[in-house]
Amino acid sequence: MTRRFGDFQNEIYGDGLRGRLPRYPVDFDSLERTAAAVLPSWIWSYVAGGCGDEHTQRANVAAFRKWGIVPRMGIGEYERDLSVELFGMALPSPVFLAPVGVMGICTGDFHGDLVAARASERTGVPAIQSTLAMDPLEVTGAVHRRTPGLFQLYTPTDRELAISLLQRAERAGYKAIVVTLDTWVTGWRPRDLNTANFPQLRGWCLANYFSDERFRAMLGRAPESDPAGAIHLWSRIFGKSVSWDDLTWMRESTSLPIVVKGVCRSDDVRRAIDAGADGIYCSNHGGRQADGGLPALDALPEVVAAARGLPVLFDSGVRNGTDVVKALALGATAVGLGRSYVYAAAAGGEDGLVHHLRSVLAEADLLMAVDGYPTIADLTLDAIRRVV
Ligand code: FNR
Repeated sequence: MTRRFGDFQNEIYGDGLRGRLPRYPVDFDSLERTAAAVLPSWIWSYVAGGCGDEHTQRANVAAFRKWGIVPRMGIGEYERDLSVELFGMALPSPVFLAPVGVMGICTGDFHGDLVAARASERTGVPAIQSTLAMDPLEVTGAVHRRTPGLFQLYTPTDRELAISLLQRAERAGYKAIVVTLDTWVTGWRPRDLNTANFPQLRGWCLANYFSDERFRAMLGRAPESDPAGAIHLWSRIFGKSVSWDDLTWMRESTSLPIVVKGVCRSDDVRRAIDAGADGIYCSNHGGRQADGGLPALDALPEVVAAARGLPVLFDSGVRNGTDVVKALALGATAVGLGRSYVYAAAAGGEDGLVHHLRSVLAEADLLMAVDGYPTIADLTLDAIRRVV
């Protein structure tokens, strides 16, 4: 499945000849600055912030600078093929949108989950929709037609509610379940604590709960008639500390592939495989959950080695197409964007997000062209070297 992602730069230069400049920047730093200027401060600090003194968050980004791609010449190949297969799905590229639980409030219309789904459709980049959303999963699921959507589960303490969410996701057409393991309790986040701000406790992004029959039955009345009671119930049932045994009942509740998110060590990979996981998602939640941790990229080779050929998704610190190529060379099957795409959507809505995804793909494609790695299969450990 060859797509000439790099041709995006010809479009940009061609527009320039007709006097048109790009409406959105192509680099992360500019997107970050623009998002900081347009987002209300309570949303900006929630998205941009992380855990503790944010050392891990910065280390995630810095870790990419410690690796370099080794150029290979004389390849004699004009085309690249960035396509990958994931759980039987043929995808045009290995990039995906990581789940972001406040995506819904990061666009001016407060329907950011739909913006992500629509941009996903337009670019072929799959989106993982979070449990925490402004629009119910059925509404976002209906947008995903050509490009698959995946559903991320925050496992509630009530098993019936968890099963209800899993089955709703399957009925809505999602193609895989991502179970996040590292967030049954929120990490210590100074930016949010100093402003006493946690958006969900103010009722934002709870549509999947409020629309759920089991949740409504637990509440005993319509959430709309008692928002404070509904938020209180949500806060009590939000986070189950998932054990490997829980994968058994999850498996029995859905026929979709199950990916476990937040895995950074080889023994956990083995336990996940033994418990029946279909994929491993190496991530430290972008440094939002635990400070003082290892950059997720440093854990990737160990996770890949232990995964014994199972797909390994990766995120945390990915800022551009070059980072995508490095994570692929270190063994990731697919690479997720987090804050970068939130900033792009905040800065320019659906078109801004499409522009960002096309930029990331173009940069990855052109790097592979220049450095002589025409396919993802060429990007092995041989293609990358530690520089520090
Ligand atoms: C997240 N992340 C996240 N993960 C998840 O499994 N479910 C969720 O609802 C959320 N919500 C969320 C909100 C915000 C504001 C951010 C920034 C992140 C984590 C996300 O999926 C991913 O792991 C990180 O964003 C990757 O790190 P970078 O790329 O943002 O550095």
